[in-house]
Amino acid sequence: MGLKVPLIRVPPPGPKARAIIALDERYIATSTKTAPVVVKRAEGAVVEDVDGNLLIDFSSGVSVLNVGHGHPKVLEAIRRQAAHFTHFAGTDYYYEVQARLAERLAKKAPGRRPRKVFFTNSGTESTEAAIKIARHNTRRGLFLAFLKAFHGRSMGSLALTASKPVHRRGYAPMMPSAVHVPYAYCYRCPYKLTYPSCDLHCVNIIEDLYFKSVAPPEDVAAVFVEPVQGEGGYIVPPKGWMERLAGVAKDHGILLVDDEVQAGMGRTGKFLAIEHTKAIPDVITLAKALGGGLPLGAVVFNAELDWREAGSHSTTFGGNAVACAASNATLDVLEEEDVMANATRLGARMGKRLAEMAETREVMGDNRGLGLLRATEFVTDARTRRPNPALRDRIVREACRRGLILLPCGESGIRYIPPLTIRSDLLDAGLGVLEGAIDASVRAR
Ligand SMILES: Cc1ncc(COP(=O)(O)O)c(C=O)c1O
Repeated sequence: MGLKVPLIRVPPPGPKARAIIALDERYIATSTKTAPVVVKRAEGAVVEDVDGNLLIDFSSGVSVLNVGHGHPKVLEAIRRQAAHFTHFAGTDYYYEVQARLAERLAKKAPGRRPRKVFFTNSGTESTEAAIKIARHNTRRGLFLAFLKAFHGRSMGSLALTASKPVHRRGYAPMMPSAVHVPYAYCYRCPYKLTYPSCDLHCVNIIEDLYFKSVAPPEDVAAVFVEPVQGEGGYIVPPKGWMERLAGVAKDHGILLVDDEVQAGMGRTGKFLAIEHTKAIPDVITLAKALGGGLPLGAVVFNAELDWREAGSHSTTFGGNAVACAASNATLDVLEEEDVMANATRLGARMGKRLAEMAETREVMGDNRGLGLLRATEFVTDARTRRPNPALRDRIVREACRRGLILLPCGESGIRYIPPLTIRSDLLDAGLGVLEGAIDASVRAR
């Protein structure tokens, strides 16, 4: 795709796209479609749609294609593995790609503890496995999680998810025993305090109030935490917050479960987002970018937490051979091609440009992020900071018409998560489209 992008021939949805969208809407059950992009093929950070438009991808298939669409090393690994065998039930038999991947993940986890790995197919399954690990080992029933957290949509993980009402509406009762605490959301501090003079009140209150009322610590199995809250709005906690939380968990024998499903795999410039802190998690959940575009999840945990009885937990497809091969190739690319350094470098470039754009646009209420995990929270005005989801939705649609694929997050945020391998000229072009889309959408109010 050597053409200059974005290249819009017919603003999406063009005629071919409209036909496929109609078919999709007739037969596909509940979905969260964001923009009318009907993909034909994709390479690097560029997507060609069925009507011949070339769009810049700031979504990476929701943080999955961290090494870019169609990376040659990942494709070659998939082809080679598929030619040998595609599936052989990795929980019941043995094969090398799975064992090698487990070894790599166990060794990449922070801290010096020996670790073990359980493979799944998705983020929610990783959360479910982590719930079972925590209950099985501690024999405690309660969990702590955070308001606006997202850990998945199956019935166990949903009890921990508190991101948007739509995820929970109509599904009560949840798995009992999840207690939610406000996250470190400094732009809208629920306690109306200011960092650092707050002395991390939002962690201190766990011991001072929650443990003394609804959640006796000796009954709490684990605290589930996203190192950057993803679906909740790309909220980055302040310095020292994660360490303080880890300290509280450790003091009470509570497992710290670090959900890296969205923020991990190099996205923030480090392999895991928690590595920006000194906290050492007991359990790490992974999925999304782990499979290099194929469905794969994993739980990496302290070896002493391993199930003591074979079959206590299992799954048919978890650790599928082709997905493991794609994952090993993805790790090779992350390690060999300077991808995480690119995420740091281009993340800083993006952050600077967004800050410049916000200087003259008060609707850009807060710009935040780490590496190439970034977002803007759109507001009505700088004084009230009232969330502006209508404007956000207009910007996402307008950007798509102009050739940039975006995703919303939180109540009124847009996340910017291009492949970590994106070239700087494409990143700049994408930000140029974003700027135009913001201005056009504000004018259209
Ligand atoms: C932090 C986090 N955990 C878990 C999940 C659930 O992953 P999946 O959609 O693969 O079940 C997501 C999905 O967005 C996520 O962002």
